[in-house]
Amino acid sequence: MKLFIDTSKVEEISKYQDLGIVEGCTTNPKIMAEEDVEDWRTKLEQLSEIVEGPLSAEVTTNNAEEMVKQAKELNLIGKNVNIKIPANRPGFKALSKLEDVDVNMTACMSPSQVLLAEKAGAEYASIFMGRISDMGNDPLEVIEKSSAMVESTDIIVGSIRKVYDIQESFLAGADIVTTPPRFIGQMIEHKKTEEAVNEFLDSGDFEA
Ligand code: E4P
Repeated sequence: MKLFIDTSKVEEISKYQDLGIVEGCTTNPKIMAEEDVEDWRTKLEQLSEIVEGPLSAEVTTNNAEEMVKQAKELNLIGKNVNIKIPANRPGFKALSKLEDVDVNMTACMSPSQVLLAEKAGAEYASIFMGRISDMGNDPLEVIEKSSAMVESTDIIVGSIRKVYDIQESFLAGADIVTTPPRFIGQMIEHKKTEEAVNEFLDSGDFEA
């Protein structure tokens, strides 16, 4: 089980890598736009250097030929880069032409899409938990069924909306969960831990 960070912010990635908590990073065009990235190539090059594990970069087209072209170019950015391609018709068409590129089949909403991602040779399949809930469906069922069916494709659960989603995703069979940085902070902090630590600190000193 691995925890990835869903951001393009270098300082957040470094902060949690330094704690030994984060083992990879995912981005998408919306994240890049919301985090005010202007020069995407330079940003991805920078991320590829600092991320100590896989880094997902996404294509920005819905045309299969363009996806292949972009994927090949993005793949040159760094050895740890894998390419997010959407789990739709153009995406599957592109995947079939990307034998030498690690693909993360993204925006999967159903076990069938995850199954096809494995059949087509994707390294990763990303299930979008929050967006599945938004549709009134049960994301845990999608994760459970998908993980029961696939073996060679790693299941990444993204679209995390609260801390609780992370543990539930792992319990349902996720290999990897990718989360916005703020939830990692919330996973660490607990007011009862702080209370206990303060009590112990107030109780005396060990002379080293
Ligand atoms: C996962 O890889 C995606 O980047 C991301 O988690 C999508 O989440 P959203 O539904 O918040 O856009």
